[in-house]
Amino acid sequence: MFTISEKTKKFITKEVSRYETKRSAIIPCLFELQKDNQGWISNDCIESLSQFMDIPSKDINEVFHFYTMFNKKSVGDFHIQVCCNISCHMNGGLDLFKVLSDEFKIEKNGVSKDSLAISKVECLGSCGTAPMMQVNEKYYENLTKDKAIQVIKDLIASKKTN
Ligand code: FES
Repeated sequence: MFTISEKTKKFITKEVSRYETKRSAIIPCLFELQKDNQGWISNDCIESLSQFMDIPSKDINEVFHFYTMFNKKSVGDFHIQVCCNISCHMNGGLDLFKVLSDEFKIEKNGVSKDSLAISKVECLGSCGTAPMMQVNEKYYENLTKDKAIQVIKDLIASKKTN
């Protein structure tokens, strides 16, 4: 069984107290749980959350499977989310996705040897700075192919020096 950290338990307890029904807190609690489990949520995580929140796991699973921002598989150390919605698409978002996938040998739904995963995502709300991508929590905007490749190289290098 997945062990929810004390920090996340405190967060969940506080979130639940903010709403009239516990179910209303499922989304923020799933986000926190995802951080607790290195960026993705397993069935074990859902079961632990279900027990802790005292909500049937099927109710949590409905929310979990509806939203694409909850990762169903490991996303490695760096989850690259390339926006391919209209503004980014018109400014080369799809090319960016392909270039990064090829350059860093990241397979669809896989994790590369550098611990990278990549996804095409819908609008991230930064259309004025298209094309853009999000890596873990951080936005990288006004990208060119070279700039995006350098961002990822720098992230990989920073991991090696830490
Ligand atoms: S279309 Fe890419 S951020 Fe909105």
